[in-house]
Amino acid sequence: MSTIKIKYLAMLNLLLIFVLLLTACGPAETPTPEPTQPPDEPPEVEPPPEEITGQLEIFSWWTTGGEAAGLENLFSLYNEKFPQVEIINATVAGGAGFEAKPALTARMLGGDPPDSFQVHMGQELTETWVVDGFMEPVTFIYQQEGWEQYYPQGVLDIISYEGDIWTVPVNIHRANVLWYNREVFDQYGWTPPVTFNEFFALAEEMQAEGITPLALGDVGIWASIHLFEVVLAGSMSPDLYNGLWTGDTDWYGPEVTLALENMARMLEYANPDHSALSWDQANDLVIQGRAGMTIMGDWVDADNMAKGFEHSGWALPPGTDGIFVALSDTFGLPQNPPNRDNAIEWLRLVGSKEGQEAFNPVKGSICARNDCDPNLFNIYLQGAMQDWENHTIVPSLAHGAAAPESWVALINDVMTTFVTNLDVAAAQAGLAQSCVDSGICQ
Ligand code: GAL
Repeated sequence: MSTIKIKYLAMLNLLLIFVLLLTACGPAETPTPEPTQPPDEPPEVEPPPEEITGQLEIFSWWTTGGEAAGLENLFSLYNEKFPQVEIINATVAGGAGFEAKPALTARMLGGDPPDSFQVHMGQELTETWVVDGFMEPVTFIYQQEGWEQYYPQGVLDIISYEGDIWTVPVNIHRANVLWYNREVFDQYGWTPPVTFNEFFALAEEMQAEGITPLALGDVGIWASIHLFEVVLAGSMSPDLYNGLWTGDTDWYGPEVTLALENMARMLEYANPDHSALSWDQANDLVIQGRAGMTIMGDWVDADNMAKGFEHSGWALPPGTDGIFVALSDTFGLPQNPPNRDNAIEWLRLVGSKEGQEAFNPVKGSICARNDCDPNLFNIYLQGAMQDWENHTIVPSLAHGAAAPESWVALINDVMTTFVTNLDVAAAQAGLAQSCVDSGICQ
């Protein structure tokens, strides 16, 4: 069997597993044990804390206010436990890791891995790093810590491959959120749009008031992929959306046409300088009342908190009521990191209740574990926790869950052209071809 075929089958498997999250993420359920083989060797015994010295290099793209604050909370906890370890905060700025991921790739291929690094749950982890043997499994940490009962089975399934667990999820983020400024909406008597037609009608009203309807910051293009996945999810059923990533939904179908038409119309209401702005600079336009809405993941909640913005409003973007477009940040253990023992202690912290409760309330995400105290979280995040249990979960494209990075790169190219020419037919043909070129579609 060819490598592409093997990867394709592995990818299909992973996507099916992600769909199983629909029923598997409830926190009260006792998960069935991971269907793994017993470990060949007994769990490794780690050295006691006082013997942990040296350095710990953590690689991520968390540089904005809420992101950096969450990371800092984890570092503080780590240094409380291991004061002798010097933490090296290796960040590469750029939303969704659009600058960090190439930098990480160069390091990994060059045999210079950090001790642990941020990587999205799903295809980004498995296809990029696990299948080709760049990672060490972390099943033994789950066994030592008794973690399997605290993670939803669907999450454990996504991060498992060939009977092992390969990473430690620190959070769950939601991609489909429409953020707005409550003060501005109250002033004009506006309510968040539920349908695309309502969105366009509201956008007209905003324009009449001299307010840019949609704030977009797609430097690095990923924020447009993010917008597109949310519009796709809002323009078709979850089953059809999921089928896009397995080749079961026709990229030439009418739902994709509709999504591209919706997206093209939305882009006409976006700030013209969008390709020069980052996601948080776009959010600034909303905070300042210069733009009406932005569609972005719930790291905006963290950005708003860090900036002391108290009039944040949120709603589900058009057509996505009852749908949770999900992604997760995780940390893994590369093969032969310089400070393996220190990295293992980092992973223990990242996966602990204490670590996740310190990180997520300021990061604007909910715990990947199911036992965090909801009272530590703000109203937005408490709502997200409930939706994570009750809504239909589908994988994010822009953030590593739905498709392998090689396919995302092809979609990036299509979208880079589309956001400037708004040519629906050409974009649809480009997307369909990208699916074929990725080996997913016939
Ligand atoms: C996502 C990541 C989030 C947040 C966001 C913006 O890919 O999962 O944690 O950092 O990018 O940078």
